[in-house]
Amino acid sequence: MRDQFNRPLHDLRISVLDRCNFRCPYCMPAEQFHHTYEFFKTNEWLSFEEIERLARIFVSLGVKKLRLTGGEPLLRPDIDQIIQRLSTLEGIDDLALTTNGALLALWAPKLKAVGLQRLTVSLDTLDREIFSHMSGGRGHLEEVLEGIQAAQAVGFKSIKINTVLQRGVNDHTILDLVQHFRGSGHTLRFIEYMDVGNQNGWDYQYVIPSQEIVGMINKRFPLERIGGTEGGETSERYRYKDGAGEIGFISSVTHAFCGTCNRLRLSADGKMYTCLFATHGIDLRAPLRAGAGDASLKDLIRTTWTQRQDHYSELRLQIRQQKYQEPKVEMYRIGG
Ligand code: GTP
Ligand code: 5AD
Ligand code: SF4
Ligand code: SF4
Repeated sequence: MRDQFNRPLHDLRISVLDRCNFRCPYCMPAEQFHHTYEFFKTNEWLSFEEIERLARIFVSLGVKKLRLTGGEPLLRPDIDQIIQRLSTLEGIDDLALTTNGALLALWAPKLKAVGLQRLTVSLDTLDREIFSHMSGGRGHLEEVLEGIQAAQAVGFKSIKINTVLQRGVNDHTILDLVQHFRGSGHTLRFIEYMDVGNQNGWDYQYVIPSQEIVGMINKRFPLERIGGTEGGETSERYRYKDGAGEIGFISSVTHAFCGTCNRLRLSADGKMYTCLFATHGIDLRAPLRAGAGDASLKDLIRTTWTQRQDHYSELRLQIRQQKYQEPKVEMYRIGG
């Protein structure tokens, strides 16, 4: 199954709820997401049965890789039960979860026991105060570091550590992160700050091009490029020449990777999005709850994918110059 740019469907990213215990200013600024903000109600969430059923259908259409996201996925009650169900699905090569790490120490043993294969932890800085600021005053650095330790202790190897960089906010703490994670067996990945959603006040001046960071790190710890971005990878991979492992750069702004984008996203309320910057989702929950059979759900997904023409990151500047821009889906609703 190929889309309009000949891209196959390979990854499905499933958001299990839109709530989060952090308020990162680049994602859920605390001024907007206060106690009266209306998140999805629990009856709007896809149930685990519904998620499993849809996942099976997606697998029959070529999906090989599943990633659970949020908001913060570890806040979904009984998250282990859906992981257990998905881990026994035939045809899945990779089952991963992205978390902010705050509840990871608590969950790591259970996640391992039910068959989660890989973990990605978001961690923007090792500076306690900046960390607190970048999590909207809600996060504690120690909890996240303990979470990573706990995950490592129960056998999660090569954990990915995602760091969003914002100029003037955390860029002076890059080398601390590099030093901390090189040689640890985990892979640090720097992400260029993106204009996801509608409320983070994105501006190009806050973006630090990956090449600038590569240059800086390379001076201190020589790097060499490995792999390519073929095969749908988001990250440009490098390794330390001294053998201290791998490091990656996700350059969606300065070096878009839409050409190989094979990802589909499912929100907690059952909408399917063909791009991180989509303005509309296709509702799968309504037909599901109205009794649609697998064949008709499959048709709907197939039609959506084969018509897909998204390549927002390649068109960013053009689109942002348009006078009227439709609101995009928010990051906490589709999990990055
Ligand atoms: P693995 O590398 O296989 O672990 O998965 P991944 O690259 O999908 O990693 P992850 O889920 O950690 O994504 C990392 C970050 O890359 C996300 O949080 C987003 O910020 C960004 N990202 C992931 N997918 C896309 C995409 O399709 N488009 C854009 N523009 N950014 C993406
Ligand atoms: N730009 C880049 N990355 C972002 N994330 C959230 N918002 C943005 C943004 N505006 C990242 C988080 C996390 C992942 C789910 O998405 O930090 O690593
Ligand atoms: Fe929560 Fe992740 Fe958004 Fe931060 S970036 S508010 S941790 S969902
Ligand atoms: Fe894929 Fe859209 Fe990201 Fe491009 S901008 S890589 S099409 S999700």
